[in-house]
Amino acid sequence: MGQAQIIDGKATAAALRERIASAVAGLKDKHGLTPGLAVVLVGENPASQVYVRSKAKQTVEAGMASFDHKLPAETSEEDVLALVRQLNEDPAVHGILVQLPLPDQIDSDKVLETIDPSKDVDGFHPMNAGRLATGQPALVACTPVGSVILARAAKPDLTGLHAVVVGRSNIVGKPVAQLLLAENCTVTIAHSRTKDLPAVAREADLLIAAVGRPEMIKGDWVKPGAIVIDVGINRVEGEGGKSRLVGDVDFAEAVEVAGAITPVPGGVGPMTIACLLRNTVQAACAIHDVEMPEL
Ligand SMILES: NC(=O)c1ccc[n+]([C@@H]2O[C@H](COP(=O)([O-])OP(=O)(O)OC[C@H]3O[C@@H](n4cnc5c(N)ncnc54)[C@H](OP(=O)(O)O)[C@@H]3O)[C@@H](O)[C@H]2O)c1
Repeated sequence: MGQAQIIDGKATAAALRERIASAVAGLKDKHGLTPGLAVVLVGENPASQVYVRSKAKQTVEAGMASFDHKLPAETSEEDVLALVRQLNEDPAVHGILVQLPLPDQIDSDKVLETIDPSKDVDGFHPMNAGRLATGQPALVACTPVGSVILARAAKPDLTGLHAVVVGRSNIVGKPVAQLLLAENCTVTIAHSRTKDLPAVAREADLLIAAVGRPEMIKGDWVKPGAIVIDVGINRVEGEGGKSRLVGDVDFAEAVEVAGAITPVPGGVGPMTIACLLRNTVQAACAIHDVEMPEL
């Protein structure tokens, strides 16, 4: 086999953000509607701070309103819930995102369940997860949506493919499996108790890795010609003590076997925020009963 096609998440995300920016301009012109995204960050987790900064920057670049709420690490659960309830009521806010992980004194499930499902742009509320699972219109988690967009960039019609999703988290594995089912894939969900994972992975025409283990998926786990979507973002020690990011897939090996593959960085990562902006537009349109522009 030659080298796989490299699926360019950075370019795909940039193109999506451009379409979002023109849709937002249209909503302002035609309906006087400016979609607004509120992001709540509790504490000072460095990775979360980076994410929140990029979210705010890209929200503003797309012409939307960005509301940042930074709370100290020792904030009580009650205070976070009170802020969420206030944002639920705020007419300028169409999307609410509470950055995870939250400090230990705060029950994340309770916070996520307090977000108004119509403003739940992360798609983590059980109402949206349930709507996705039952095939109803929903706000769907951003990284899974981005992953499927990239799979479709490699093969527009995924019908009939055997998709193997490695990972069963509520934020990636389960929703991506639901989306692939809706794309008419035959879906297997693998996890830490799966027997003979390499053999299961080798069955995949479409392999989605959402594990959180650096370069766990080796080249000989990949079926020749398969589409490989690597959701993993792992910081590892590189040469000279410098840290670098790697995925859950051993890219150097898998690129020799796969038909198409996403790199890390530059694959699924950039899609997440672009899909968050899209969800915010979708939420704003639904709340104001305006037709959602094609994105
Ligand atoms: N923007 C983005 O691109 C983005 C967004 C979210 C996450 N991520 C990345 O995606 C990865 C997964 O995130 P997550 O939140 O889904 O992680 P998570 O909640 O820790 O879930 C990891 C899943 O992988 C499974 N797993 C762990 N070790 C395994 C093994 N040795 N063999 C097979 N399965 C194994 C676990 O199985 P069990 O259920 O059996 O424990 C679990 O279902 C991480 O690297 C994360 O950084 C990226």
